[in-house]
Amino acid sequence: MDAVEVIAAKRDGRELSAAQIAWVVDAYTRGEVAEEQMSALCMAVVWRGMTRAEVSAWTEAMLRSGERLDFTGLGRPTTDKHSTGGVGDKITLVLTPLVAACGAAVPQLSGRGLGHTGGTLDKLEAVPGWRGDLSPARMREVLAETGAVVCAAGPGLAPADRRLYALRDVTGTVESIPLIAASIMSKKLAEGTASLVLDVKVGSGAFMKDAASARELAETMVAIGADHGVRTRALLTAMDAPLGRAVGNAVEVAEAVEVLAGGGPPDVVELTLALAREMLEAAGVAADPAAALRGGAAMDVWRRMVAAQGGDPDAPLPAAAESRDVLAPATGTLTRLDARAVGVAAWRLGAGRARKEDRVSPGAGVLLHAKPGDPVRAGRPLLTLLTDDPARFDRAAEALADAFAVDGPQERLPLVLDRVG
Ligand code: URA
Repeated sequence: MDAVEVIAAKRDGRELSAAQIAWVVDAYTRGEVAEEQMSALCMAVVWRGMTRAEVSAWTEAMLRSGERLDFTGLGRPTTDKHSTGGVGDKITLVLTPLVAACGAAVPQLSGRGLGHTGGTLDKLEAVPGWRGDLSPARMREVLAETGAVVCAAGPGLAPADRRLYALRDVTGTVESIPLIAASIMSKKLAEGTASLVLDVKVGSGAFMKDAASARELAETMVAIGADHGVRTRALLTAMDAPLGRAVGNAVEVAEAVEVLAGGGPPDVVELTLALAREMLEAAGVAADPAAALRGGAAMDVWRRMVAAQGGDPDAPLPAAAESRDVLAPATGTLTRLDARAVGVAAWRLGAGRARKEDRVSPGAGVLLHAKPGDPVRAGRPLLTLLTDDPARFDRAAEALADAFAVDGPQERLPLVLDRVG
């Protein structure tokens, strides 16, 4: 086959065959299709899109580029969740042990944060001793022992996606729903779960800014899952304001532990339970996640899961050396607290990274003293900024200049906007 022919076919709006797609992805991974040819093909996909058959074949080709984990034989059905990423999204930390406590096995492969959205691995690494770089064999052992494991995807899973994502990142071709869907699903399918729930975020702090694009992404991923025999469904959920009251790493772990202890912010509890119900139903497990949260069963699994991965669930979490309050500008009702601006502020304070190689500061972040809908008083703290490096405060505060409104129009999205699948 010939790369130029494949590029020209997509450029001219023709549907590629499964054989063409399998060949081009494989040849690119082996270095036989040049970077400039693959970038031209990705740009043609950005403009022309892909049919359901094409996107499934593209996902399959990326899946085949590496190993596929196998968690059959655990004696429990496997289920997993993927979030498209948001600000203050610590749901995985609670959901994974909760769903395991209800009787399913949750093999959760998570990522690191980049830019204004946080990553689950960075959050869990704030727990002293915790490690996410497990071998597939150790991952299976932890899953068998506790029903839950959260770790990093090894280099053997969907290596074609790793290479392709790096190329898309520097060629302006990330923004294609079929390419995003195939990228996410190739990694999730490689993880070997039998069912999958997708939390597709919508709003300023999310990858998808509007509900129509979020729905298209959700429908594309649900179709890929179905084509690969994995029961997949999606919730479209709000990311116009941060989730919960803590944004960062250690502060989000602390908030997740509050939820596991039966407290915590209502939006975190509500979304965790909504996703848990979807996961349990998809896995065919009849259990009440609210009871598992209330009764402490989820906390027990959390403690065992953290300990099995080298962490000390009782150790104090790291705290930032410096803090500065941001004060409410007026008295009234907080009507807007922009997720993206808070995410950028947390990132600038050291909670996130600008480049893959950067280290994050576990104690850095932002605490929210009010959420949209809450009353605020002029001159009282609205946010607390946390950092190890006080030189970072000014740039973080700049990011927040237009982040909130008092007594403005009510603009909030409902927490769960819709369900797909
Ligand atoms: N996240 C992914 O894993 N892949 C994409 O293409 C975009 C976001």
